[in-house]
Amino acid sequence: MEFLGKPRSQRAAFLPLCLLFLKILHPGHSHLYSSRYAGDKVIRLIPNTEEEAYALKKIYQQLKVDLWQPSSISQVSEGTVTDVHIPHNGSRALLAFLQETNIHYKILMEDLQKVLEKGSSLPTQRSRRSVSGYNYEVYHSLEEIQNWMHHLNKTHSGLIHMFSIGKSYEGRSLFVLKLGRRSRAYKRAVWIDCGIHAREWIGPAFCQWFVKEALLTYRSDPTMRKMLNHLYFYIMPVFNVDGYHFSWTNDRFWRKTRSRNSRFRCRGVDANRNWRVKWCDEGASMHPCDDTYCGPFPESEPEVKAVANFLRKHKKHIRAYLSFHAYAQMLLYPYSYKYATIPNFSCVESAAHKAVKALQSVYGIQYRYGPASSTLYVSSGSSMDWAYKNGMPYTFAFELRDTGHFGFLLPEMLIKPTCTETMLAVKNITMHLLRKCP
Ligand SMILES: *[C@@H]1O[C@H](CO)[C@@H](O)[C@H](O)[C@H]1NC(C)=O
Ligand SMILES: *[C@@H]1O[C@H](CO)[C@@H](O)[C@H](O)[C@H]1NC(C)=O
Ligand SMILES: *[C@@H]1O[C@H](CO)[C@@H](O)[C@H](O)[C@H]1NC(C)=O
Ligand SMILES: *[C@@H]1O[C@H](CO)[C@@H](O)[C@H](O)[C@H]1NC(C)=O
Ligand SMILES: [Zn+2]
Repeated sequence: MEFLGKPRSQRAAFLPLCLLFLKILHPGHSHLYSSRYAGDKVIRLIPNTEEEAYALKKIYQQLKVDLWQPSSISQVSEGTVTDVHIPHNGSRALLAFLQETNIHYKILMEDLQKVLEKGSSLPTQRSRRSVSGYNYEVYHSLEEIQNWMHHLNKTHSGLIHMFSIGKSYEGRSLFVLKLGRRSRAYKRAVWIDCGIHAREWIGPAFCQWFVKEALLTYRSDPTMRKMLNHLYFYIMPVFNVDGYHFSWTNDRFWRKTRSRNSRFRCRGVDANRNWRVKWCDEGASMHPCDDTYCGPFPESEPEVKAVANFLRKHKKHIRAYLSFHAYAQMLLYPYSYKYATIPNFSCVESAAHKAVKALQSVYGIQYRYGPASSTLYVSSGSSMDWAYKNGMPYTFAFELRDTGHFGFLLPEMLIKPTCTETMLAVKNITMHLLRKCP
């Protein structure tokens, strides 16, 4: 179990080696992402009228802003909170425009580069790899996460089995952990995926946390024991492996996959708009350069196709589908693509209500919950709607912390509290599932 612990004291011993290692890899790079976000701002705006919303959409398009909330310009409307990341060379124009039009705004981050470097400890400040310890309170690169999976597959073969469900666009393996005691031939299962959207780093951190907690508390916690005895958990820590890797090496705010387009230079498809359920309708874009691009056809992305194939094959026993995103502090269930309640609404609704209460009981963090369409926004072709339509009765999407103070740059200091409270919600939903819904 050493690997699951977090002996901080051991980190110091590896520091000199680590520094040497980094010097060779990154000669002369003292700043993350070559300081490309220096002077960029993140601004929160709430258009009060339709005219203001229209004007904002136009200037967003002109200035090519990186929209953080909502995820596409088409979703900007009267009364919705919009958080925009504006590059340094466009911020002057945007601020002038806002003062001219009297649209209400608040600067969330004055200098994105500074926030980025403060929140995530620089690689030079700590050792990411140590021989016997593993730090669950830092964000890990794709390579680190995959090494961690291989390691657990070797050291915890009684509870964990690691396998690949296919290859990504760029040829990386799509790894899944099957977690649970091999007690009976037939067991119901829960699917959990993290990191459909690359820049939402708290997702993969939670998937790792979940596995750690399961292994650490299996013996001591009756709830966890029950979960692992009666169910299998299929856990995919990084769904969008290419995008996640790219968000570490090139663009911290990359969202989509990395597939090429034959007619446009823009790359990537929104892996949460690419599913065959009301595909490419409201809340998805047909334009390859948009962050909510639905792709040339449903399941065009090898990552989506691989997961869809796996879920189709195992849908008889997969009873729940859970997907982890950020940020908004919401627990969402179907439908995403339309304003309507699902048939067995009351079971799902009460599961969500209890899960959110359980989450809040830890640090008082409040989550909103409800159908994704009316709670967040309408989006078509989402994995959650697809899973629901394909027979998984309990399907949820978590939008983890926070509500915009740090946004995608949730500091590593907040990994532990965020994962601790989320753990309770997931356990609560899982236990709900094991009972017959009233
Ligand atoms: C800001 O710089 C980028 C990259 O150099 C460029 O593509 C973009 O057009 C510039 N934007 C404005 C508003 O000048
Ligand atoms: C996990 O371990 C099993 C045997 O212990 C092995 O057969 C399997 O190939 C391993 N998975 C991966 C992805 O290496
Ligand atoms: C609703 O729940 C009942 C009882 O659990 C189940 O038999 C039925 O298939 C469910 N319907 C849908 C649409 O999920
Ligand atoms: C689930 O959460 C509710 C509300 O906080 C709580 O009453 C219940 O005991 C929890 N159930 C489990 C199994 O954790
Ligand atoms: Zn997301």
